Amino acid sequence: MQFFVDTADLEKIKEINRWFPLDGVTTNPTLVADSGAEHHSLIRSICKEVKGPVSAEVLATSSEEMIKEAHVLAGLHPQVVVKLPLTKEGLVATACLSEENISTNLTLCFSALQALSAAKAGATFVSVFVGRLDDIGVDGMEMVSQVIHIFSQYQVKTKVLVASVRHLSHVLAASEIGADIVTIPPALFSKMVEHPLTDKGLAQFLKSAGRSINK
Ligand code: G3P
Repeated sequence: MQFFVDTADLEKIKEINRWFPLDGVTTNPTLVADSGAEHHSLIRSICKEVKGPVSAEVLATSSEEMIKEAHVLAGLHPQVVVKLPLTKEGLVATACLSEENISTNLTLCFSALQALSAAKAGATFVSVFVGRLDDIGVDGMEMVSQVIHIFSQYQVKTKVLVASVRHLSHVLAASEIGADIVTIPPALFSKMVEHPLTDKGLAQFLKSAGRSINK
């Protein structure tokens, strides 16, 4: 299973990558706007920091404009994955980009049949938004299971990316059901590796040895 970080904050990416080697990064227009950085230079900097795929999202809504924008984004760095909305126009653009061997991440996926449509178009990744599904009373992780089951029956190559992750139980469930990738907000990485009993046990061991914790 691969772990991506879901942020456009370069400093946070560097900090996490130091102790949890990241497999990739996902960004979206909201995260980029929050970072205050210029989109293209930010994406290049992230690619220098992390070895894996880095999703950069188009803002266009017509397939023609999406394809133009995708060419610019893909030209920024070989690690760039073009993120496109899971709309009819997005599917048209995905099919064209797939022919050109440009990697794509179909985002805002809220149903198993949308995921299957993304796969049919040749998407590299499909991002299922589990938190936003939970928000409307639909079990997001149950939908991810459904997508994995459908994809496994037809040897679909599109990778299932669990997005809109809100808490550690999403991360645990994603690993248990065999999702290819989970993209996690920065704060959850610390929560994943820290435990009060680890801290307590370490303090006791160090006290016994007459040492204290160097942070
Ligand atoms: O990057 C897409 C996704 O992870 C957004 O999450 O929390 O805004 O639903 P959220």
